[in-house]
Amino acid sequence: MAIAMTTGYSAQTEGALLCIEAASDWALTCVEQLAAQSSHVLIDYGAADGGTAVGLWSAVLDRLHERQPSAHLTLIGNDLPSNDNVALAENVARQIGRPPKPTVLVSCRSFYEPTVAPDTVSFGFSATAMHWLSESPGPLDNHTHVLASGDAEALKRFTAQAMKDWTSILDLRSRELKVGGRLLTVNLSRDEQGRYLGNNGGETRNVHDQLHQIWRELADEGVISEDIYRRGTVLNFYKSPEEFMAPLKDSNSAPYRNGLRLVDERTVYVKCPYRRRWDSDGDTQAFAEGLMATIRSWSRHSFASVAGDAIGDQVFARLKQRIADSPSEWSLDYVEHHQMMERVA
Ligand SMILES: C[S@@+](CC[C@H](N)C(=O)[O-])C[C@H]1O[C@@H](n2cnc3c(N)ncnc32)[C@H](O)[C@@H]1O
Repeated sequence: MAIAMTTGYSAQTEGALLCIEAASDWALTCVEQLAAQSSHVLIDYGAADGGTAVGLWSAVLDRLHERQPSAHLTLIGNDLPSNDNVALAENVARQIGRPPKPTVLVSCRSFYEPTVAPDTVSFGFSATAMHWLSESPGPLDNHTHVLASGDAEALKRFTAQAMKDWTSILDLRSRELKVGGRLLTVNLSRDEQGRYLGNNGGETRNVHDQLHQIWRELADEGVISEDIYRRGTVLNFYKSPEEFMAPLKDSNSAPYRNGLRLVDERTVYVKCPYRRRWDSDGDTQAFAEGLMATIRSWSRHSFASVAGDAIGDQVFARLKQRIADSPSEWSLDYVEHHQMMERVA
């Protein structure tokens, strides 16, 4: 799995917090519609250090407790074994102090595996995490991100891997859900105009092109070899709404056969909070530092894992300089797909 977040995740990702806030109305709808039970298990897949979702889970637990005061609630934070799972444990534990005094657990496993027993989960949630691919679909020769590469053959391979992964994630989640349980996914996506995280249709520079230019520069200067250049790939994929819905529209897919159905979907845009702040305060150094750190939080691993930490650091020193040199040309805007699902049988 080619992903690892840098430490201090939630301090560096104001945008991810806004993306979660934008989904909180649907999270509340999901738990409001749960049938009365003696207990409910709620799970946050790919929670990182859990800091960005503390407010969401407080609101969800309060609402479910209000509706079902005698139900025992369990909240599970999930992420990879390489995550800062101690910080995640501390953040989920922030829910214990007040009624409904939930039980809290941490699951340090991939969401490409079963995380709990079948028929366990009443409400599953995941934000800005399920775009990471489970394995490499082969080389990307001319770019660091497939969607910015213009390579039609590679796009086919990456799309096929992304669809296989998504169907497998929904298969696993649909087995874990109870009948009547809800799943809400909030995922980085690609809209009808081809916009995605870091590509706002040309309003500002494409962040993935910028990362690639820096990576190419390092190869041209002989700092990295051509082989390392080709292996530096951000192994994620931003699916379209149709791609997200496809396994739920196909009655032969595993998740459909497990009873998972689409309830609602929408695309939500979240503007870059670092850029918004720079627009009002003009503090270019703070903007360059903050924006660089948020981009680094999800992309550093793609470079450092193949070229080492020192070269990884060079990528982000150069990125910060580029932002500082022309701040008005930078913004990291989010395109997120919300998909609400229910297991009906
Ligand atoms: C951008 S962070 C999002 C964190 C949080 N959900 C939020 O919205 O702020 C993505 C998280 O997904 C996790 N992740 C990526 N692949 C995963 C996998 N296969 N299983 C579990 N977590 C995964 C990463 O470790 C990282 O913590």
